[in-house]
Amino acid sequence: MAQKVQFVETVLRDANQSLIATRLPFEKFEPMLSTIDEAGYYSIECWGGATFDVCLRYLNEDPWERLRKIRAAVPNTKLQMLLRGQNVLGYAHYPDDFVKLFVKKAVENGIDIIRIFDALNDVNNLKVAMEATINAGAIASGCISYTTSPVHTHAKYVQMIKELKEMGASTICIKDMAGIMGPKEAYDLVSAIKDAVPGMPIDLHTHSTTGLAFMTYLKAVEAGVDIIDTAISPFSGGTSQPATETLAYALRQLGYEVDLNDAACKKMADYFKTVRDDFIKDGTLMPKSMATDTQCLTYQVPGGMLSNLLSQLKQMNALDRLDEALLETPRVREDMGYPPLVTPTSQMVGVQAVRNVLDGQRYKTVSKEIKAYCRGEYGTTPAPINPEIREKILAGEKPLEGRYADTLAPVVEPTREKLGDLARSDEDVLSYIAFPNLAEKFFEERKAKEENVATYSIVEA
Ligand code: CO
Repeated sequence: MAQKVQFVETVLRDANQSLIATRLPFEKFEPMLSTIDEAGYYSIECWGGATFDVCLRYLNEDPWERLRKIRAAVPNTKLQMLLRGQNVLGYAHYPDDFVKLFVKKAVENGIDIIRIFDALNDVNNLKVAMEATINAGAIASGCISYTTSPVHTHAKYVQMIKELKEMGASTICIKDMAGIMGPKEAYDLVSAIKDAVPGMPIDLHTHSTTGLAFMTYLKAVEAGVDIIDTAISPFSGGTSQPATETLAYALRQLGYEVDLNDAACKKMADYFKTVRDDFIKDGTLMPKSMATDTQCLTYQVPGGMLSNLLSQLKQMNALDRLDEALLETPRVREDMGYPPLVTPTSQMVGVQAVRNVLDGQRYKTVSKEIKAYCRGEYGTTPAPINPEIREKILAGEKPLEGRYADTLAPVVEPTREKLGDLARSDEDVLSYIAFPNLAEKFFEERKAKEENVATYSIVEA
C-alpha cells in the first residue's frame, strides 16, 4: 500500500501572517471557505498565532466571531490553531485560570486541533495548555520549536517528544519556523523520532524562506513523516510555506498517496491570486517577503519576524540598516542562551538587535520583555544567559526560581467583575485579558455601532 501524506493548509494563518503581516480580513477569504472544506486537507490552520491580535488591532473583527463563522462554513475539515503555551496568544506568561478557560472556549467555538509550542522548548510551559486541550476533547499537538545551535541536538529533541507523549500529545509537530531545516536534518530527525516513538503521527512545519523547504519535505516524507504544512500557491513561497499543489503533484508522481481534490485547489489558487494582487498593489505584500533569502541560514530569522523587522526599519526610515540588524540578531540570540526564534522570543531578540544597532551601543536600552526574560519569567533557557549581560540588565534584581505562572494570581474572575456589562461573554473577558486596550476599544465601538444602527432605524421608520 502506498504511503499516505496529508496536508495542512496554512493560507488563513501562517501564510497570511508570514507574507502580509496577518492583514487578511474575513470577507477576503469567506468566499473560499466551502471550497477549502472540500479540498481534502488533514486540517486548516486558521486561528491563533497573530490572527487574534491583528483582528482586534487592525481589522476591527471579533476574533471569536471569525472562528465561529469559519466553523459554520467549514463543517467537515478539522480546524487548527497555534497556541504559544503559557503565553496563549500574547507575549508573556498568563495565570493558569486564563490558559484553561481560553483553551476551553477555543474548542467550544470550533477548534479541533491545538498546536502548542513554547519558545524555549520548556515543557513546563506546555503542561497546562496540553491538559486543558485534552480535557476539552480536542487534539493536542505537541510541538518542538526547531532551531540549531551548539546546545540543540537530535537526542534532546527526541527526549522532548517522549515527554510530550507522556503529557498526552496525540500528534507531534516539528516546527521549523525559520525554514532553516535542510533535507538531511529532516530525514535524520524524522527517522530518529519514528524509531523512538513508533506510531506517533508526525507533522513537519517549515517555511520557504531559504529555498530548502521542498527538499526538506521530500526527505521527511521518505523518512515517514505523516503530515506536511503547505500554502495554496499564490500565498506560497518566500517567508510562507511551499505550494500545496506543487507538493501534491511531485509526491503523487513518486507514488505517494495524496487525497487532495485538484479542482478545489485550482479554484482556491485562482481566487487567492486576485487577493494576493490586491495586497501587492497596496504595498502590504513586499517583494522581499516573496524572495528566497539564504541569509536566513546564518541569521535564523523566521518568516513573520523578517517581515516585522522590515516594517519596523521602514517606519524608522532605516531600511538601509537591515544587514546590520540581521548581523546583530544571532549575537543577541547567543547572549540570551540560544532561544529558538519564534514568537515572542523572535520579536524580543529582533527588537533588541535593532535597538543595539540604532543606539550604536549594545544593551543601552532594553525592552521590559528582555528584562523579564533575564529574570526567568519565560522559563528555562536552552543555555545559560551570558552572565555579564544578564547582570547588567537585571541591575541587582534577583532571578526567579521555579515556574513563573505559579507566582501569578487568578485573573478571570476579577476581570469579569471589573468589566461588568462591557463584557457580554466569557470570550469578551478573555479578549480583554489578552489585549486590554484593544478589546476595550473594540467593545466601545461595537456598542456605538449598535446604537447608531438603532437610531438610524428609528429615523427610517
Ligand atoms: Co510558521
